[in-house]
Amino acid sequence: MSDWIYLSKADVTEVEEEYVLSAMRSGWVAPLGPDVDAFEREVADRVGVNHALALSSGTAALHLALLHAGARPGTVVVLPTMTFAASANAVVYTGAEPVFVDSQLSDGNVDPDLLLDAVDTLRAEGTEVAAVMAVDLFGRCVDYDRFVRELVERDVPLVEDAAEALGAAYRGRPAGSFGVAAALSFNGNKIMTTSGGGMLLSDDAAVIDRARYLATQARQPAPWYEHTEVGYNYRMSNLLAALGRGQLSRLDEMIARRKQIRLLYRDGLSDVPGLSFLGDDHERDDSEDNSWLTVLTLNEQAGTDVDALVDALGSGNIEARHVWKPMHLQPMYAGHRAFTTGASERLFHTGVTLPSGAGLTDDDIHRVTASLRDTLERA
Ligand SMILES: Cc1ncc(COP(=O)(O)O)c(C=O)c1O
Repeated sequence: MSDWIYLSKADVTEVEEEYVLSAMRSGWVAPLGPDVDAFEREVADRVGVNHALALSSGTAALHLALLHAGARPGTVVVLPTMTFAASANAVVYTGAEPVFVDSQLSDGNVDPDLLLDAVDTLRAEGTEVAAVMAVDLFGRCVDYDRFVRELVERDVPLVEDAAEALGAAYRGRPAGSFGVAAALSFNGNKIMTTSGGGMLLSDDAAVIDRARYLATQARQPAPWYEHTEVGYNYRMSNLLAALGRGQLSRLDEMIARRKQIRLLYRDGLSDVPGLSFLGDDHERDDSEDNSWLTVLTLNEQAGTDVDALVDALGSGNIEARHVWKPMHLQPMYAGHRAFTTGASERLFHTGVTLPSGAGLTDDDIHRVTASLRDTLERA
């Protein structure tokens, strides 16, 4: 049986080995250290923001960003329904209520008109909207020009969930640089990894200073352990930051490979009826995406559904997955307010994410393409 082809396996080389080995040999094994400082500086420079804070996860970064924005009990945070649960969970950690907004069909990202409509409706009802969270889905930035100015006019802070989008840009501006603060994820399946980790980004030093304090158990500057409020254990360790530095040095190469993979899929599947690539029918092209995951959507002509396709690929040792199940359809969030059009539900029933990891070979992609063609021909 042929080897498993994973959806988005970490791509780690001798470069990363050297970074980690040198961090270990330097003796900076205990939590923080020079690689954390350097990693923060390097990521901030890459994204073009003033400050960065390395954390244990992207979820932790979202939590701290939302606390800064003022999310708390009695307020709501408006966010896309099509996202990973972590985006919504981070809202709940603050005590605020998540309110969900549907996608635009063209690329799955939040529908900007509906987003503004949700904010205005909630405010007209007397609800305090503590923040809007934008999620750059599958490595493609949201249409920021269609709502950022409007949010500023309404004095509603924007938090950017750029967990999937490091290296992407919107009209020349890097993902991770929008809003009052942004979160990156370095989870194992992301565009680059620290095996597990995240980063909070902001132009405002006060945001990062307060987050740093909260992320280290809210320890007061006293010679003993002094605490005046509840904090968190959210910092990234020096060894993981070293791994991140190695990965960051290869980020452009890894993005370039993911883009090539998307092209190979396009070449291999363009004549197959029943398939389209998510994002293709959008007025923006995908040149500024980081191509984290390539997503197909099936239409009636495909003659099969996503479940069957995922199973068929799985039986050939190929990992493909459904796109995120919308939050308003999740049992956990079913009772929450949602502004819907049906678009995310439709994408959930038609979308499939394809193996996209930078370590995949051309032969791997040809195997996926052949298996897809074969399954659809037999459907
Ligand atoms: C959109 C989105 N937000 C948040 C997260 C959470 O990041 P982490 O797993 O690093 O906590 C992820 C990925 O895991 C994600 O895809």
